[in-house]
Amino acid sequence: MSSSVLPLIEGADPANFPLDSFKVAIAVLLSKALDLSLDTAFSGVDFGRKGVDFTVAVPRFRLKSKIPELIEKVTSTVYSFTPNHYLEQCVGESPFVHFYVRTTTLFKLVLERIHQSPASNGVPFGSNWQGAGKKVVIEFSSPNIAKPFHAGHLRSTIIGTVLSNLFEANGWDVIRMNYLGDWGKQFGLLAVGFKRYGSEESLANNAIMHLFDVYVKVNRDAALEKERGEPEITDQKAREVFRKMESGDESTLSLWRRFRELSIHKYAEVYNRLNVRFDVYAGESLVRSDHIKAAMAALEANNLLTDKTSKESNNNWKEKKVAMSLGTLRTAEEEDAEANPSGRGVAKAVDLNQWKLGKPVVQKPDGTTIYIMRDIAGVFQRYEQYKFDKHIYVVGDQQELHVAQFFKIVSLLNAPFADRLEHVSFGRVNGMSTRKGDVKFLDEILDTAKEAMLAQMQQKEEKFKDIEDPDYTADQIGMTCVKVQDMQAKRVHSYNFDPQRMTSFEGDTGAYLQYAHVRLCSIERKVAPTVVVPSDPSQINFDLLAEPKAREIVFILGTYPDVVRTALKTYEPSNIVSFCFRLSHIISSAWETLIVMGQEHELAQARLFLYMSARDVLGSAMRLLSLSPLTRM
Ligand code: ARG
Repeated sequence: MSSSVLPLIEGADPANFPLDSFKVAIAVLLSKALDLSLDTAFSGVDFGRKGVDFTVAVPRFRLKSKIPELIEKVTSTVYSFTPNHYLEQCVGESPFVHFYVRTTTLFKLVLERIHQSPASNGVPFGSNWQGAGKKVVIEFSSPNIAKPFHAGHLRSTIIGTVLSNLFEANGWDVIRMNYLGDWGKQFGLLAVGFKRYGSEESLANNAIMHLFDVYVKVNRDAALEKERGEPEITDQKAREVFRKMESGDESTLSLWRRFRELSIHKYAEVYNRLNVRFDVYAGESLVRSDHIKAAMAALEANNLLTDKTSKESNNNWKEKKVAMSLGTLRTAEEEDAEANPSGRGVAKAVDLNQWKLGKPVVQKPDGTTIYIMRDIAGVFQRYEQYKFDKHIYVVGDQQELHVAQFFKIVSLLNAPFADRLEHVSFGRVNGMSTRKGDVKFLDEILDTAKEAMLAQMQQKEEKFKDIEDPDYTADQIGMTCVKVQDMQAKRVHSYNFDPQRMTSFEGDTGAYLQYAHVRLCSIERKVAPTVVVPSDPSQINFDLLAEPKAREIVFILGTYPDVVRTALKTYEPSNIVSFCFRLSHIISSAWETLIVMGQEHELAQARLFLYMSARDVLGSAMRLLSLSPLTRM
């Protein structure tokens, strides 16, 4: 390979993944030395462990010759290896071959690509076109009106937002959907409660809080009646109202509609604060009845419906009740409880026992709809509307069974999109209730984090003076802390909500990340106007960045597009979070060696450019995580 021209390989995209150039160069070498196709060779090139750029595990090619022979073939200059524009050195360490890339080429490809975004290339550094032409619906957050927005909803909101950003960065067309829990008997109950305890003024003020208040009170009424063995008037009324709603009675519906709209209005405020947005506010109430009917008919036609006796339903209900007492109320459980109004009539169910998925009820004895049925009918409706290539449900692991049942039923109905549905699950958050045991509202959680930050900021009087909008800044850092704590571990893990640790500046916290970004921003301010980076980076002399630290920074910056691509495979925001921390740590260890201030001009420029590139990449990774990177704090 005398020139620097590389062949095209399927799956390699050097324009958006600058490090792919090196992988291709390695593939060229491997394919010659080991007589492999370029594609096979390319797929065998991995990032190396610390201190190594790329590594190839030779056994993976399953070739006939002995490993040492194969390694010899790759590394010996007799066969193939000569240092070139891309590769400086290769070393065998059985069963691996390690590659070291040419530093000048590395600097040029990575730093120029970061700088060039997005003008000449169409997408900013870190993004790519892999998903072009494909559409994904991502359903997340999905709180229940009149009930607290609990930790599970917060996790769903955060994970769903990051996934949406990730899909977008990978070129997909993304529909961000919020599926509100806005239907079911509890809305009958709420209407009854509103008559007794509601106030128009409080509703206008804070719909979510007020409706929750009313809901708690009317629930207490219903519980008391039951406890005392009195006629269950509240419950009966609630059923009646809900039946009216289902039959389309305008006067009951208009009240409910107001609850829904005012709640959405309030939610939108909080989402806005969190830097989260939706394209669609869907909801259980918006699943059309013709879709429910069609789905019921399809179940019938496929012989999938069986009766469920009240005894069976009762068992079902008892199991769920245990789950309920453990954690948060869920629509699914309440609905299931509903499916068994003490033996009247027969519920319809689908027997999924042969898949160990139980026998979920899909229709109540009185014919009204149920949570799972709305999910089944709803996805047909969504497919009709969006013709999605993929549909992701971001829902906590407490609803694992529900989602599995729903997916199974959809596939038994031979839906053409059945294999496009994915459940992105996550573990619980512990300790997000107040001492009295009642749930905290999201607003309060965010306010607490913000105040903690503000208090810390005020301790540094000098700096505090310079902050333009301390309130905004504290709020952003606070939210960064909440989000980072949530995304740090793998999704499946549950974690303890720990305000103290979360808001600390020590250790890998959100505050630390913001600080790392602020510090990168401040360097440019400090050295201006003496040192200014030229607008054309090809005028910068990268050869002056000779320190191993500089190379380490450039290499990790180069991996950013790969991190984005990988996170889309794992659906793990934690992949991006650890990238941010790794980058921040390397930079913080570079400040002492890579000094800008007081250096000879050309050198200062090169170093400043390096820091600015790091700032851009860190900032873009933070934005991918839905954080707002700060410039001062
Ligand atoms: N509103 C539900 C709850 O809070 C979550 C909805 C999950 N999504 C779904 N398609 N079932 O429990």
